[in-house]
Amino acid sequence: MIPIARPNIGEEEKRAVLEVLESGQFAQGAKVAEFEKRFAEYVGRGYGIAVNSGTSALHIALLAHGIGRGDEVVVPALTFFASASTVLLCGGTPTFADVDRDLYNMDAAHLKAQVTKKTRAVMPVDLYGQTAEMDAINDVAEARDLLVLEDACQAHGAEYHGRKAGNLGDTACFSFYPTKNMTTTEGGMVLTDDPKIAEACRLLRDHGQRAKYDHILVGYNYRMTELAAAIGLVQLKKLDGFVRKRRENAARLTKGIAEIEGLSPPVEGNWMLHAYYQYIVRVEDRFPLTRDEIVQRLTSEGVGARPSYPSVLYKQKAFRKRPKNRSKVAEDVIPRLFEIPVHPLVSSEDIDMILRALESLR
Ligand SMILES: Cc1ncc(COP(=O)(O)O)c(C=O)c1O
Repeated sequence: MIPIARPNIGEEEKRAVLEVLESGQFAQGAKVAEFEKRFAEYVGRGYGIAVNSGTSALHIALLAHGIGRGDEVVVPALTFFASASTVLLCGGTPTFADVDRDLYNMDAAHLKAQVTKKTRAVMPVDLYGQTAEMDAINDVAEARDLLVLEDACQAHGAEYHGRKAGNLGDTACFSFYPTKNMTTTEGGMVLTDDPKIAEACRLLRDHGQRAKYDHILVGYNYRMTELAAAIGLVQLKKLDGFVRKRRENAARLTKGIAEIEGLSPPVEGNWMLHAYYQYIVRVEDRFPLTRDEIVQRLTSEGVGARPSYPSVLYKQKAFRKRPKNRSKVAEDVIPRLFEIPVHPLVSSEDIDMILRALESLR
């Protein structure tokens, strides 16, 4: 089976982990500080605050910006659960904006329609490895005085107008979950240029401690380990190479899929460099099989395909008591989407096999 995702861990990462194990310093220390500095530099941001997951990063970034009870935050209807659940963890209310039919990211016109007197922030998500259309989103945010919290958890190495994902709003959050373009096993990071937000995040991730046992607010234990940071430092050096390989694989897949009537390959937006965290295919009405039939056939032939997200986020049980404003594009498009392997460990022969399996479906 060609797996849909596989962490790309080499000898250098293993050596870095052993070195930390031998040092005896496992909890947040010098490696974490170095990883924060290097990752913030890579993205072009002033401050990095490393944490134990992307979810923790979103949670403390929202809190640091003062999001709380009564505040609405607009998130896209098509994204991972944590983009909206973290708003609720802060006591705020997520509201949902529809997405663009081809790019799958938040549509600025729909964002505008969702803004109410209570809206304090917008959380555009750089879904599947491609940034949202940030100029249009930032224009709406500026006109309505909204905070822009970029969820870049899927977009390490992506670019928009030559700027890296994570450098396109006020503050940004990343995840280093094992399937991501680079990993620390589990992990996350907040990036910002605002020293006050950076300081608030540092306090929130470590029990509000300004110095040992000096707690000035109630925070969490969201710290990153030295082991995770040591892996992250090696993975960061490899990130551009990983993204290059993902883009090469994607280019070959797109060339082949463009020839198959009724299957639509992903679209690269203007000014966007897609980092292909996921390679998403859309099934059109004229294709003879449904998305689920396709996934079943591909899986039985050894291609690790799977449906993308199961539904718009507001249909998840956990959000059932939340206000519903239907996102028609997302509702139509989600049942048509499936993922196929694109990661750097997918070989040229694997791509041939994936394309053969897709071609044989018709
Ligand atoms: C868009 C998005 N936001 C947030 C997260 C949360 O990150 P983590 O799994 O590291 O908590 C993810 C992770 O998969 C994600 O894809």
